[in-house]
Amino acid sequence: MRQYRIRGGNRLLGELKIGGAKNAVLPILAAVCLNESETVIHNCPRISDTFDSIEILNRVGCETDFCQNTLKVRASDLSYEIPEDFAKKMRSSVLFMGAFLARCGRVILPLPGGCSIGTRAIDLHIEGLEAMGAKIRRGDGKLFCETDGLKGAKIKLTFASVGATENLMIAATRAHGETVIENAAREPEIADLAEFLKKLGADIRGAGTSTIIVQGKQSLCAPVAHTIIPDRIVAATHLVAAAMTGGEIVLKDVRPFDLMPVVACLKEMGCFLRCDGDDVHLRAPERLRAVPRIETRVHPGFPTDMQAQFVAALTLADGQSEVTETVFENRYSHVGELRKMGANIRLTADKRTFVINGTNALRGATIAAHDLRCGAALILAALAADGESIVQNASYVERGYESIERDLTHLGADILLENSG
Ligand code: UD1
Repeated sequence: MRQYRIRGGNRLLGELKIGGAKNAVLPILAAVCLNESETVIHNCPRISDTFDSIEILNRVGCETDFCQNTLKVRASDLSYEIPEDFAKKMRSSVLFMGAFLARCGRVILPLPGGCSIGTRAIDLHIEGLEAMGAKIRRGDGKLFCETDGLKGAKIKLTFASVGATENLMIAATRAHGETVIENAAREPEIADLAEFLKKLGADIRGAGTSTIIVQGKQSLCAPVAHTIIPDRIVAATHLVAAAMTGGEIVLKDVRPFDLMPVVACLKEMGCFLRCDGDDVHLRAPERLRAVPRIETRVHPGFPTDMQAQFVAALTLADGQSEVTETVFENRYSHVGELRKMGANIRLTADKRTFVINGTNALRGATIAAHDLRCGAALILAALAADGESIVQNASYVERGYESIERDLTHLGADILLENSG
């Protein structure tokens, strides 16, 4: 088990380049299975979810070569059973369903795992693929899926699910005829997936809007090189870190437009922010201000993946703030840990709304990450706290941050990744 040892109190200062987005690379690592030629992916983050996806690719028969941040994949002959141990680790393994149905006409997929932040149903994925002609049977903790040819369909999602939109878009690229996905999710990572699929030869319009139209093709085969977009959640996490430590940082190449909901909120908290081309400059105020209300929403609303980090920041803000989580029903595990550091947070009975009364200081403590963003929030709290903290369960953080200790050290933080006990 690994843990972070953090001595709080250092102001974060300096410049940082942000790497490729976890939520862009994971669907693309499923979509590579469509390509019968070689795929090269640049700016691939070296996070554990990437390594686990690559292991799935290796086990189904792909040839892969991952060097620094460039991954080469050749998906020539594929078996159609996704290995259970790796599928269970990651929610995004569900995206192999659409890719394999499209490429092989069948797949056996162990029910996917991932961070415990809600029920994380996959009914929308299944209903959409069934509407396209897939036959899906559940048994023995697995999904047995097959089709004698996917057909285009008109699918209206009852919720703008990121994963379901991606799965259906991937499947539709090789379906017979036209697929229309209505109420599609609009996250920037969906547009990045569409850009990748188009390079393979797919015909997709509207990705990044709520209606996506895909004309299916008989085969997709092209040598492709693609660069993953920067990780807006990693970028936003560092902005909040600087805001909480009274710091001043410049993030390079981060596509500021993708960060707008977070930037707006940080401004409301009293931070100075300037976007200059692809860079974002933040200077923290003497003391952060409370925000009357934040509600997580699908993009372009406030991202659920930044909820925990903002809750951590608001524990130090002047006044009372209220944050409501509307996307996942179980995303509150950071609350108990932040309280150990002296935070004043009240949770409503449905555990969806956090009422935060800012304190002047947090104190260092031994605290444990219970999921990826909970871990990020605790690291931020520890950076701003008085004294030393231990953040246990570093492996959650490593799912989505490529060496967060390296990046924070670069900005002047006192943080070490170490083995516990
Ligand atoms: C993706 C992101 C994750 C982010 C989330 C919301 C990746 C790899 N992960 O997760 O970081 O927190 O979007 O922005 O991109 N739902 C259903 N039925 C379904 C699908 C989803 O009820 O078939 C519900 C889920 O239980 C959840 C909500 O919809 O409450 C959001 O899920 P979804 O948008 O699908 O998120 P993910 O794709 O899992």
